[in-house]
Amino acid sequence: MWKIVISVLLLSSFATASFWSACENNAGVAPDDVVSPSCSGSICHGVRGERLIANVTFTPRANHNDLRVQVWATVLGIQIPLPGEPPHDNACNNIFHNNVRQSCPVVGGRQYLWIIEMDIPLTLPALNNARVRYEIWDGDVEVMCASIVAQLL
Ligand SMILES: *[C@@H]1O[C@H](CO)[C@@H](O)[C@H](O)[C@H]1NC(C)=O
Repeated sequence: MWKIVISVLLLSSFATASFWSACENNAGVAPDDVVSPSCSGSICHGVRGERLIANVTFTPRANHNDLRVQVWATVLGIQIPLPGEPPHDNACNNIFHNNVRQSCPVVGGRQYLWIIEMDIPLTLPALNNARVRYEIWDGDVEVMCASIVAQLL
């Protein structure tokens, strides 16, 4: 009986393991969904020196005029900031509503698509299971945070 229960639990945890999740200690919203040609199942595959593209849908709680992007990679337990280059350091520059490109402000309660286009720095080490955290900030208010698991080649 316990073997069956444990097998079912294991199977369901494999089935639900996803490459993205909500962030720990996030005051903003989690994404509604994340899809990327580089990601499937429980992991994303990034190549250092190449561009990672991901579609993040999210629904902000409030209106925001500014959506500054802050990306962190956790390497051996240490958070390393990944510098964003304009225009990708501000999500206002790559945001869509109902498939129409728009700019900020975003309106609370509406769903938006933010397309992440990020060049993975060559300075990062090759990693097997790096956790990468994509935060969006309006001043000192955290608007959204997505966490992905990536293998960096
Ligand atoms: C991401 O969104 C763009 C714009 O709507 C779309 O063209 C593209 O197919 C989407 N990518 C994925 C992986 O869904």
